Amino acid sequence: MIPEIKNICCIGAGYVGGPTMSVIAEKCPHIKVNVVDTNKKRIDLWNSKNLNNLPIYEPGLKSIIKKCRGKNLFFTVNTELEIKKADMIFISVNTPTKTKGLGAGQASDLKWVELCARQVAQFGTGHTIVVEKSTLPVKTAEVIKSILENSNTENTNNIKSTFHVLSNPEFLAEGSAINDLKNPDRVLIGGDNNGAIMALNSIYSYWVPKEKILHTNIWSSELAKLTANAFLAQRISSINSIAAICEVTGADISEVSRAIGSDTRIGSKFLDSGPGFGGSCFKKDILNLVYLCKYYDLHEVGRFWESVVELNSWNQNRISNLIIKKLFGTVNGKKIYIMGFAFKANTNDTRESAAIKICKDLLNEGALLYINDPKVIPAQISEVLGMNESNKKEITEKKDLENEGKWHFIKNVVDGFHDADAAVILTEWEQYGKINWEIASKLMRKPSWVFDTRSIISANDLRKYNINFWKIGDGTH
Ligand code: NAD
Ligand code: UGA
Repeated sequence: MIPEIKNICCIGAGYVGGPTMSVIAEKCPHIKVNVVDTNKKRIDLWNSKNLNNLPIYEPGLKSIIKKCRGKNLFFTVNTELEIKKADMIFISVNTPTKTKGLGAGQASDLKWVELCARQVAQFGTGHTIVVEKSTLPVKTAEVIKSILENSNTENTNNIKSTFHVLSNPEFLAEGSAINDLKNPDRVLIGGDNNGAIMALNSIYSYWVPKEKILHTNIWSSELAKLTANAFLAQRISSINSIAAICEVTGADISEVSRAIGSDTRIGSKFLDSGPGFGGSCFKKDILNLVYLCKYYDLHEVGRFWESVVELNSWNQNRISNLIIKKLFGTVNGKKIYIMGFAFKANTNDTRESAAIKICKDLLNEGALLYINDPKVIPAQISEVLGMNESNKKEITEKKDLENEGKWHFIKNVVDGFHDADAAVILTEWEQYGKINWEIASKLMRKPSWVFDTRSIISANDLRKYNINFWKIGDGTH
């Protein structure tokens, strides 16, 4: 029998829970979708009248919220009530790397997932299908099942609540989340109960073609998610390693990428060299895989994947070092314009952004940073850099060469070039590809430098304006 799903509860209103549930609500107007979170501020933002204040920026999200919120899509802090009503519960909470205790630095911290399972066990009524949406270590479903099966919950007729657990990992990428959710390459459902699998299948089948909905066993599903992220991150470390070779040999990474990407076995996507992968998941998911390998005594396999993360850190470091070297070995008291702080374009997310490491390195050397990002707010930059913003005067009028770095947020893109010794493009925002370099060059201090870590401008655009130029992976000049 396939249970009918009328009420969904999603625990976690973050980058995954919010957009995913919005798309389900839009595609399935007959289902009531309730997204709960313990973070009241986040829920209030999801409920903001002004849709520019939603907690997450994703192209296409605002229009869905406008259409569905208050009709069949709700954001609330009332977890207990929504769990009670739900036929299906998605667990979409954070699963960061453990910072202390057993497995610290590699294993995922599952305390939020465990808490969800306990809440579901306590408040669930009748039959509930529990769906792992968070990215989880292989065998987590066993933990969730064990908590649910050992619960003492009984409904009002003294009938014990029943549960089935499915794995349904999410493959959306930030910045294109809505499009990824509406047109997924595949949807993966792992489980061992056909009725539960088909109940979830029936939801996706409203908009995802049948052949794109894959059914697997639960452990394959959990492992496939970690593997997909590990493979994607490995491509970026691979291409960044080759970019470094290009720079010293006279080759050009864009030509190398095109040449290898034309091989259909390799494919052309995910071959852009850059400052190193960021985002909340690649590093944590690979480290999680490494932990799994160690746990099962597969040390060589673990070392193989660990090297992907090591190469990424090396690449971020190499960029700060080369900026310092090109600026005569010191950036103390120099103004450096950081263009982009989000870990990629079209998102306001800064988690693990390469900009954090690079800015910290430069601040440590006493640099004065102007930072611009179209979607990241200054308070967020303060928080991740662990340093308050200075006012503009403190930077423009700073004359002494103390070793203390400072930073100031720039709203209007062109303002950041004033007196700057260098501009460093760290995020591939579209507007950075359209800079009027004639104007910028007049504003910058000479000799001026532009460092393009995202390959979005061409040397030809700058040549006539007497700006020194470095572009990642470009060994041709
Ligand atoms: P997030 O930190 O943006 O959101 C998680 C939310 O869960 C937070 O708002 C937190 O307050 C809430 N929460 C935690 N415990 C709770 C509880 N017991 N009750 C109610 N709310 C609770 O995280 P995210 O980026 O949405 O990621 C969630 C999961 O999805 C992670 O496992 C991540 O690896 C995975 N994932 C993320 C992405 C992405 O692009 N961000 C893509 C695919 C998968
Ligand atoms: C990634 C995966 O692409 C998603 O499938 C997955 O669901 C998600 O992680 C997750 O599990 O969290 P995301 O981190 O949002 O999505 O963004 P990506 O587009 O994958 O970019 C990750 C990082 O790699 C960014 O810093 C980006 O700039 C960098 N990148 C990407 C490159 O440097 N070069 C590329 O060619 C592609």
